Amino acid sequence: MRLNLGGGEIVAFYLYLSKFFNPVQAIADQINQIQKANSSSERLFNLLDVPPEVLDKPNPIIMDHFEGRIEFKNVWFAYENDDWILKDVSFTIEPRQTVAFVGATGAGKTTILSLIVRNFQIQKGQILIDGVDINDIEIHSLRKAVGQMLQDVFLFTGTIKSNITLHDEEFSDEEINQVCEYVNADKFINKLDKGLDTEVLEKGENFSQGQRQLLSFARTVLHKPQILILDEATANIDTETEKLIQDSLEKIKNIGTMLVVAHRLSTIQNADQIIVLNKGEVIEKGTHQSLLRQKGYYHKLYLLQFSND
Ligand SMILES: Nc1ncnc2c1ncn2[C@@H]1O[C@H](COP(=O)(O)OP(=O)(O)OP(=O)(O)O)[C@@H](O)[C@H]1O
Ligand SMILES: [Mg+2]
Repeated sequence: MRLNLGGGEIVAFYLYLSKFFNPVQAIADQINQIQKANSSSERLFNLLDVPPEVLDKPNPIIMDHFEGRIEFKNVWFAYENDDWILKDVSFTIEPRQTVAFVGATGAGKTTILSLIVRNFQIQKGQILIDGVDINDIEIHSLRKAVGQMLQDVFLFTGTIKSNITLHDEEFSDEEINQVCEYVNADKFINKLDKGLDTEVLEKGENFSQGQRQLLSFARTVLHKPQILILDEATANIDTETEKLIQDSLEKIKNIGTMLVVAHRLSTIQNADQIIVLNKGEVIEKGTHQSLLRQKGYYHKLYLLQFSND
């Protein structure tokens, strides 16, 4: 059989063909999307099903003020099973002291800081703040009193201002500006056309690591915590910002009790107490000078890390 098709009919045929296949393609795309959403939601619900590690006790103590005395008493901690990350760690920090934690990578420094805000539950021993076991303290009131300045500063999409105030409307622009000046963040903010209203992109990628750290200082100082924890950023900070950070730290230290995971020699030297960790154990404690005189592990670390400074 022969079909006698004219040019117009062939064109029409092709047009109808694509009209037919476009929806089919669209349906296939939709099915694809649904499958992706399905597997994502499965992962999401799995995540939501994980119970939070640490919960409030019934009738927890709501602390509205801390003096800032922190005590670790024979603390043992493992993230998993019996893989002890902290082994029998004990130390006492008096109110308004600055304490530096030093030790090799993986020694457990960040872990100690995260235990203070009850991100994890210790298995043995006791952590006390102002003599109260932190397991008895309401988590929200505890976290409100502890200003956290961590290695990876968390900035969210918004403006510099909203990242500093955390959307708390009670702060005036004047207060915010004062705080920025106090922590030396004003230097770079003032250079921006929109100043405090400058947009912050996702994860703060339009700011350098040093600038992010300064913003986290401003955020912390504005909220006036009684206890401060700082995991110093190590990498990629230019010398100019580095100086601003050092100067800022000297001032911040006076706000309350401060626990620092320190990489900068200046922070360490000026600390009231240095706690030296090795593989989850406290092996030395003292001031910079007294530890150097001991000629122990700290002395070795010092020679290794800072002899070039
Ligand atoms: N969330 C976690 N789950 C399981 N293990 C972890 C977790 N966080 C840390 N660890 C492990 O605990 C140990 C101590 O880690 P921690 O982060 O406290 O070390 P650090 O002294 O802060 O090191 P660094 O100087 O590199 O920051 C490491 O062996 C690490 O792999
Ligand atoms: Mg760390």
